[in-house]
Amino acid sequence: MSENQKKTIFSGVQPSGKLTLGNYLGAIRNFPILQQSYHCIYCVVDMHAITVRQEAAALRRATLEVLAQYIACGLDPEKSILFIQSHVPAHAELAWVLNCFTMFGEASRMTQFKDKSAKHADNINVGLFTYPVLMAADILLYQADLVPVGVDQSQHIEICRDIAGRFNGLYPGTFVMPEGYYPKAGEGAKINSLADPRMKMSKSDPNPGGCILLMDKPEDIMRKFKRAVTDSEASIVMDPVGKPGVSNLIQIYALATGKTIAEVENEFAGKGYGEFKPAVGEAVVELLRPIRERTEQLLASKDYLEQVYTQGAQKAAYLARKTLDKVYRKVGFVAR
Ligand code: TRP
Repeated sequence: MSENQKKTIFSGVQPSGKLTLGNYLGAIRNFPILQQSYHCIYCVVDMHAITVRQEAAALRRATLEVLAQYIACGLDPEKSILFIQSHVPAHAELAWVLNCFTMFGEASRMTQFKDKSAKHADNINVGLFTYPVLMAADILLYQADLVPVGVDQSQHIEICRDIAGRFNGLYPGTFVMPEGYYPKAGEGAKINSLADPRMKMSKSDPNPGGCILLMDKPEDIMRKFKRAVTDSEASIVMDPVGKPGVSNLIQIYALATGKTIAEVENEFAGKGYGEFKPAVGEAVVELLRPIRERTEQLLASKDYLEQVYTQGAQKAAYLARKTLDKVYRKVGFVAR
């Protein structure tokens, strides 16, 4: 495919610093493949992060950790654009314009705003309210065609499309209309908690044993898998409804080793959980080992990381500026 036929993928990632095995198997694993056939732009959204209180040093560290982990998972800064949101002022600038094209009523309907307001009742700030407008600015600045997100973000994609449609209605041809890109079955696997296999694996799991982090040490990974909740049947077969714990482990083992579900069932036919659980643990240890080691190396070489995000911001700013200039002209700002 020629360079300018390629579509653009934009994705934002919260600088939480803690990516999980679920994030990896569900999405990040596919990034290196995507960057062959798309223009990929990945942005660490530190400006979104401060809609809830952050500790400054922790936010800085988490921002770099996410960058390092993305690179360690196979994102190539020569092929994809990797940058930090606050380094490209056009995000804040376009967000202001889009605020004036977003209705109070539609923003009020966002369920994430309602959830976060309930969770942070002492800090219901206006940034939390306009969070989706900044997200729309992120996406529309790069004329993105596709936006890979989890289903929890689908409402934010819809409001982005509504804002873009409203703006384009008044000023035709300004923005490409983006689409959400939700992982298809088989492509992005849903991985569940090891402690409560009916829940999605999440870094906010009330039981930390339920969640594997990319940076977990081998002994922690082994311990969590050995304690994984299963059932009392002792049969290693896929049955997501009846045996959610075992099915989750089968799925993880299959993805970590590249085997099919049937191959995994065969391999462990007649064997017990005492043998199966550590085998899954070992497969995950080996899957994550190179990622953790590479991340540690990258975090130790601050100069390299700095070069990546500085060059990323330069490339991003160039693209963003083109869109922002167009928007400023259309709304009637005098050219600077
Ligand atoms: N809101 C997204 C999340 O919490 C992060 C995000 C910010 C994002 N800007 C974006 C995702 C733009 C995709 C595109 O996951």
